[in-house]
This record gives sequence, C-alpha cells and structure tokens, in this order.
Amino acid sequence: MLSFIAIVLLTALILLFARYSHLLLPNSPPLLRMVYGMKHTFDFIYLGPGAALDKFNESLVKTLFKLPTLSNSPATGELVSAFSGTDIDPETLAGLMGHHIFPAIGRVLRSQDFLERISPALATSISEFLKTQSFPAITHSLSELVGAALISSISQAILGPLFPPDAITDLRTLDTSFYTRMLGFPLTGSQFRDAHSRMLSRIEVYLALVETDCSGAWPGFPLVQEYLREAYSNDLSTRNRAALFMTLVWGLTAAPTNVTSWLLAFLFDDPCALAKVRHEVDSVLQTYRGDVVKLISDPTAFGPSSFPIIDSAIKETLRLISNATPFRQATCDFDLDYGGNSLKIRAGEYIMANTRAHNMDPSVYAHPQTFVVDRFLEGTVTKRDHNSIPIGFGGGKHACKGRLFVHRHIKAFVALWVSLLEVEVDGDTETYKVPKKMERSFNVAQMSRPVMIRLKQRRESRS
Ligand code: HEM
Repeated sequence: MLSFIAIVLLTALILLFARYSHLLLPNSPPLLRMVYGMKHTFDFIYLGPGAALDKFNESLVKTLFKLPTLSNSPATGELVSAFSGTDIDPETLAGLMGHHIFPAIGRVLRSQDFLERISPALATSISEFLKTQSFPAITHSLSELVGAALISSISQAILGPLFPPDAITDLRTLDTSFYTRMLGFPLTGSQFRDAHSRMLSRIEVYLALVETDCSGAWPGFPLVQEYLREAYSNDLSTRNRAALFMTLVWGLTAAPTNVTSWLLAFLFDDPCALAKVRHEVDSVLQTYRGDVVKLISDPTAFGPSSFPIIDSAIKETLRLISNATPFRQATCDFDLDYGGNSLKIRAGEYIMANTRAHNMDPSVYAHPQTFVVDRFLEGTVTKRDHNSIPIGFGGGKHACKGRLFVHRHIKAFVALWVSLLEVEVDGDTETYKVPKKMERSFNVAQMSRPVMIRLKQRRESRS
C-alpha cells in the first residue's frame, strides 16, 4: 500500500514538475528536459488535458474540424518548432504559420494555373529518373528509390536548379528520425540534429542565391517567391527563414515518399490490383497513341478526373497507413454532440481526431485490414467527392494545404512507374510479404523493414 502511494505521489510530482519546469529552469539540463519533453509528447500524441475521442464517424470528424470554436494553433506551433528548430516561441510561431505562411503557400498549391504548370515538369523529372534505374542486376530499396525520385522531382520542378542536389540523404534522415527527435530524450536524435544542421546551412545558401538570382525560370518559383514574401513581411531572420523553409521542403517530400512506397508495395503484393492499374495506365496511354512524352507534357494528364483507379489506390493507401492525429483546442465551452451522446468540452481542452480508429473500423470499411485497390473508385467520379478530403489529410480550415498537389505528384509517379518498369521483389518468402507498419512514425507509417526490388524496362516507350 505504502509503495503504491509512493508511486502515485512520485508520478504526480514528475507530472507537476514537467508542467512547470520550463518556468523554473529555462535552461534545464538534459535529464530535466527529458521529463519536460515527455510531457509534451504525451500531450501531443495522446490526450492533452482534454478529451480524446476514440471513435468517430467520418461526418463527425469533418463537422468537428469545421467548428469555429476549435483552433489548431497550439499543435502547429509545437510541431513546427520541433521540426524547424527556430528560436521563435511556439505560440508566436503558430500564429505566423496559421495566419500567414500556410494560407499563402496554400493559395499557390491549390491554384489551377500552378498545378497545371508544375505537372509536366514533375512528370518529366520522374520519367527521366525512372529510366536511369532499370538495370536488372542492381537491387534497390523501394522507399529509398521512391524518396530519391520524388525529392529530385520536387527539387527540379519546385525548388529549381539552385537547390543543392546532395540534399536527398539528409531529407530522408530528417523524416526517418523525426519521431525520436520529437520525444525529446537526451542522447537520442543525434542523427536528426546532424542532418538538420547540414540542411539548414544548405537552405540558407540556397535562399540567398534565390534572392539574388530571382529569374524565376523554373515552374515552381511562385511557391518559393510566395514563401519569401511572407517571410520578409513578417521580419524573419535569415536563420528562421531557412528553418521554416526546411519545414516546407519536408512537407513536400516526407509523407509523399511513404505513401507512394506503400502504394507500390501493396500493388506488388496483389497481382490483380497491379493488373487493374496497368490496364488503366495502358488505356490512358492509348489515348496519347502510346506516347509517354505526350502524356507527360499534357498539363491535365494527372488532374483529379484522370486515372480513377490510381486515385482510389492513393486514398486506400492513405486509409491503411495514416496515423495522423489532427487535433484542435477549444476556444470556448461547448457541448459536442456525437452519435446520440453529448460531451462537455471546456475552453482550453483538446480534441484529438483518431483517424486510425475511423479508418480501421469494419462498420465504416469492410475488411479494413485489406488493401482494396478500387475501394474509393465510385467516389472519385462524382462531383461531390472531388471536393471531399480523405480523412488522412485532416479537415476544415486547417486541412492539408498540399493535398491537391500531392495527389497529382503521386499519381504521375505511379502511372509512369507502371508504364515504364517491370518489378521483381528480391529475396526470400519473408521479404515478399508486405512489411509491418512502424508504429513510431509521424503522420503516415513508415515500413518496419525495407522492400528490396529489381527493375527492368517494361517496353520501349516512344520518347
Ligand atoms: C501524402 C502526403 C501528405 C499527407 C498524408 C498530409 C497530411 C496532413 C495532415 C494530416 C495535416 C493536418 C490537417 C489538420 O490538422 O486537419 C496536414 C497539414 C498540412 N499539410 Fe499536409 N500532408 C501531405 C502532404 C503535404 C504536402 C505535399 C504539403 C506541401 C507543402 C503539405 C502541407 C501542409 C500544410 C501547410 C499543412 C498545415 C495546414 C494548416 O494548418 O492550415 N502537406 N497535412
């Protein structure tokens, strides 16, 4: 009994200390920071001081996200601060991102003009990359290869020729080590720290070059320009400009790499699904007389109404691997009604949308553990669903700003891959299985082990 009381008291003391240690010891040594970091992580990932609603139906999540009484500010500040390492305090940062930088880049990323300008550039880069990889004697890690291809297409089409070509490895490291970094334990996260500091220096140089040579000769220049305009009008220092820009580059490359790698792994594991995608790609190519170059140069080729099966496969992959927990803070007291129940939410409390619980609920999706390539097929062709946002992108005013862009990017990648390459999974029966999801991943799950593949050119494409 005594030891039970001691444990309870000790836990209460640690939590209390964690809550206020930053006031007492702003420069607390690593062990204390660990306790404080742990408290933040628990807030961030699990409960917060408020209510964690485990199970929603889709419309509740979407309705919830639209409520004006809920704000996402605290979460944004903490997350961007942890990733970027700026010296701006999280609250100010949340305001800066939420009211200035996100809306500004969101306007560019959803503009039809921008999307159609960027599409041929991305597709050209992807196809050039894929054509150089098809040597059957070489074994590749699927996600390394996808990451390299997507990062290089972002780099060529959006960031332009001034962006350092050797940033690929560090960008991948930032993604794979961010979860550990977020935990804030001492003696961990050194991989993240090293990659972070190298990237930051490179991005500082890059932005300085862009500012002096703003010829804007590459298609994605408007996005970089818009970012810089906001950064300057908010008086950001050189270092903070680079740090926040790095967060943008991370957004453009990390989750898209994971989603695309999983999508391909699911297809390799399911020959019928792959055949359906291949049939779709071949049929679309026929409308371009089998000419891949014509497909690539059509600005509308990878838009929302093209390749409905690939579109469905992207949504299905996101359903299976998203572990996003978008959450909001109540700005005033209110009653949250859901499924005939009502929950009192008080100002300051958090609500976390457990999207995984929704995505894996058999009453929402039959056989939720199974990859069904055309599960979302019907939805993609109706006007209503064009506007609907897969739950893995969050919802309401703060839904993912890059979602329209990333759909095109992944669609172009998968269509070109299927059209240009044949794949053989390398290894024994164990390696043929779809890997497990790594629970310690941020936003979308990474794979628990690499999938090794060999590639060969599918056919002579006209180019
Ligand atoms: C498959 C890839 C992606 C996934 C799964 C994803 C997922 C998400 C999720 C779950 C949120 C939180 C939404 C909420 O709180 O309601 C978010 C926010 C955001 N995403 Fe993405 N994202 C992806 C790609 C991108 C890309 C390519 C960009 C481009 C830079 C981007 C930019 C953003 C921004 C700026 C926000 C903050 C929106 C706000 O708070 O107003 N994302 N994303």
